[in-house]
Amino acid sequence: MSLWKIIDKVKGFIVYDSDKEFYAKVFPESIERKDLMRLRKMRIEDLSAVLEIESKNYNFPWSDGIFRDCLKSLNYSCWVCEELNNVIGYSIVSMAVGEAHIMNICVDPAVQKQGVGNKLLENMIELANKKADTIFLEVRPSNRAAILLYEKRGFNEIGVRKGYYPAVKGQREDAVILALDLVSLFKE
Ligand SMILES: CC(C)(COP(=O)(O)OP(=O)(O)OC[C@H]1O[C@@H](n2cnc3c(N)ncnc32)[C@H](O)[C@@H]1OP(=O)(O)O)[C@@H](O)C(=O)NCCC(=O)NCCS
Repeated sequence: MSLWKIIDKVKGFIVYDSDKEFYAKVFPESIERKDLMRLRKMRIEDLSAVLEIESKNYNFPWSDGIFRDCLKSLNYSCWVCEELNNVIGYSIVSMAVGEAHIMNICVDPAVQKQGVGNKLLENMIELANKKADTIFLEVRPSNRAAILLYEKRGFNEIGVRKGYYPAVKGQREDAVILALDLVSLFKE
C-alpha cells in the first residue's frame, strides 16, 4: 500500500471517530457505547479517575503508590478504557518471559455489563500472547461477575491460594487461580 493510501486510511479513522463523538454529544441515542470506547496506555494524569473507580469497586483498594509503581515498571502494561475522554475502566497485566499475570481489571460501576471488561481483557490477552505462553490471575471465589467474565473467555481453574486476600473483620479469603493456555489458543 502506498504512503498516501495509508495516510488517507488513518485520516478516515480520525474523521470517523470525531464524527461519532459529535453525534454522541448532540444525539446521544444514535451512537452505541461500544463505538465510543477507546483503549490507550495509562498515564500518571489518569490516576485520580483510576483511584476513584478502584475505591468504588473494592473493599481493599490499591493505593496511589501501587499504581505509580506499576506505571514505572517495565514489566507491567497499564491501560485505560475511555469514553468521550472519561476514564471508565483500566487493566494491568504483568509480563515476564513465558508467563503473564492479570493484576487488576476494573470498570466503573456506572458502565458495568456493557462490554468494557471484555474489551480490557481481550487487550491483555493480545499483549500477553506476544511474550507469554500462559496468562494467570487470582480471583475471589465470591466474585461471580469476574469469574464468569474469565470463564467465558476460556480461563480454567488450576488451583486455590489459601487465605490470599484480606477480608472483613481481619479475616482472609482464598483466591481461585485461573489460567488461559495461549499456546493451544493461538500458537498450535
Ligand atoms: C469483573 C468486571 C471487570 C467485568 O466488567 P464488565 O464491563 O461489567 O464486563 P462485560 O460487560 O464486558 O461482561 C463480559 C462478561 O462477563 C460476565 N459478567 C460481567 N459482569 C457480570 C455480572 N454482574 N453478572 C454475571 N456475569 C457478568 C458475563 O459473562 C459477560 O458476558 P455477557 O454480557 O455476554 O453476559 C467488573 O464487574 C468489575 O470491574 N468488577 C469489580 C472489579 C473486579 O472485581 N475485578 C476483577 C478482579 S479479579
